[in-house]
Amino acid sequence: MRLATRMSKLPPSPTLAMNAKAAELRAQGKDVISFAAGEPDFDTPDHIKEAAVKALKEGKTKYTEVRGILPLREAICDWAAEHKGLRYDPKKQVVVTVGGKQSVFDLLHVLLEGGDEIVIPAPIWVAYEPVAVLAGAKVVLVQTSEENGFKFTPEELKAAITPRTRLVVLNSPCNPTGCVYSRKELERIAEIVLASGAMVLTDEIYGKILYDGEEHVSIASLSPEMKERTLVLDGFSKTYAMTGWRLGYTLGPAPIIEAMDTLQSQSTSNAVTFAQWAGIAALRGPHDYLKGWVAEYDRRRRFIAAGLNAIPGLSAVMPKGAFYIFPRVSGLFGRKGPNGTIRDSNGVALYFLEHAECAGVPGSAFGDDGFIRLSYATSFENVQKGVERIRAAVGQLG
Ligand SMILES: Cc1ncc(COP(=O)(O)O)c(C=O)c1O
Repeated sequence: MRLATRMSKLPPSPTLAMNAKAAELRAQGKDVISFAAGEPDFDTPDHIKEAAVKALKEGKTKYTEVRGILPLREAICDWAAEHKGLRYDPKKQVVVTVGGKQSVFDLLHVLLEGGDEIVIPAPIWVAYEPVAVLAGAKVVLVQTSEENGFKFTPEELKAAITPRTRLVVLNSPCNPTGCVYSRKELERIAEIVLASGAMVLTDEIYGKILYDGEEHVSIASLSPEMKERTLVLDGFSKTYAMTGWRLGYTLGPAPIIEAMDTLQSQSTSNAVTFAQWAGIAALRGPHDYLKGWVAEYDRRRRFIAAGLNAIPGLSAVMPKGAFYIFPRVSGLFGRKGPNGTIRDSNGVALYFLEHAECAGVPGSAFGDDGFIRLSYATSFENVQKGVERIRAAVGQLG
C-alpha cells in the first residue's frame, strides 16, 4: 500500500504507544503500574460533568462556530485576564480546538513552511518536533542540561536564533522535566526574541500545577510588544482532568487566530459542542478541588524523587511543576539484564516494563536518551510500589 511520503516524516506518538503496551500487558493479567500516561488520575469534577449533561439535555448537540461558542471564548478570555494577566478579544483573539494538540498542529501549520526554522528546547513534549517537520520547517533543538534545571540559557537561545527563525517554543511548567521558567528568565528570553524576528509559542497547559511556591508567568504578559509576538496555548486536560473531552485553545494576534480558524474549518470544524459548554463550567469554577490535587501530586513528587535518588545508577532533578519526573538512567547503560545489555533509554524502559512491571517513556522520545519520563499522576500506593519494584529490578542488573 503506497502512502504519501509525508507520512515517513511522522512517527507515532511514543507516549501513547507506551500506554498501549502497558494496557496490553495488563489485559494479559500482569499487574503493570503505568507511569507512562500524561493525564491526571483524578476524575473530571462533577460540576463540569453536570454542565455537559445539562447541555445535552438542552439539545446543545449541533455544530457551533468553528472557533467555539462565544460564551466559552468569553470565559477563556476572563480566565486569561485573571490568571495570566492578559487581555484578549473573545471575538477575534481566541480559537477553541480539539485538545491542545490540535492547537499545536494548526498553529505550526499556519505559521511554518519550508525555509523557516523553529527553536525548541530539549527535552520537551513529543508533538512539536514531528509536527514542525511535517509543516516543512527546520527544527533547531537546543539541548538543555540538568545543571541548568533543564532550561535554556539566554546565550544558548541567542546562538540558536537566525534570521530564518519563525518561532521559539516555551513549555513552562515543562513536560517531561517539570522545569519552570522564572519571571527574570522570561524577561531575558523576551529581550532576545524582541531583538529578532521570531514569535513565541508558549504552552501553558501545566500552568496551574506548581510546587514549592513557584509562580507561573506567561511571557506574553511581560509587555504589549511581547504579547503581539506570542501565541498562548492552553487547555482543559490537565487542570480539569478532561483529557478525554478533547478541549484546548490558543490565544494570540487576530490574523493568526483567523488562519487557525480557516485550517480547522477544513479538518475538525468545531470542538465537541457539549464539551464546550462543560468548558465554561470548568473555567468559571469552583476551583477549590485543585488545591487538593496539587497537594497530592506534591506528596507523590517528594516520595518518587527521594526514592529514585536513593537507587544507585539513577538521579533525578526535583520537578517544580507538572506531574512528571525525568530521572537520569544513563548510569544503567552497559549493565546486563536477562535479555542482554541495556544500551539506551528504550532498553531501560523495556527492562522496567518487563522486570519491574512499571511503564515509563524513554527519554529519546523527548529528545534526550539519558533519561526516562515517569508520570506520578497515579495513586500514592502505585508510586510506593513502583519505586520499590524499580529498586529491586535495578539491583538485579549484572
Ligand atoms: C506540554 C503539553 N502540551 C499540550 C498537550 C496537549 O494536551 P491535550 O491535547 O490533551 O489538550 C500535552 C498533553 O500531554 C502536553 O503535555
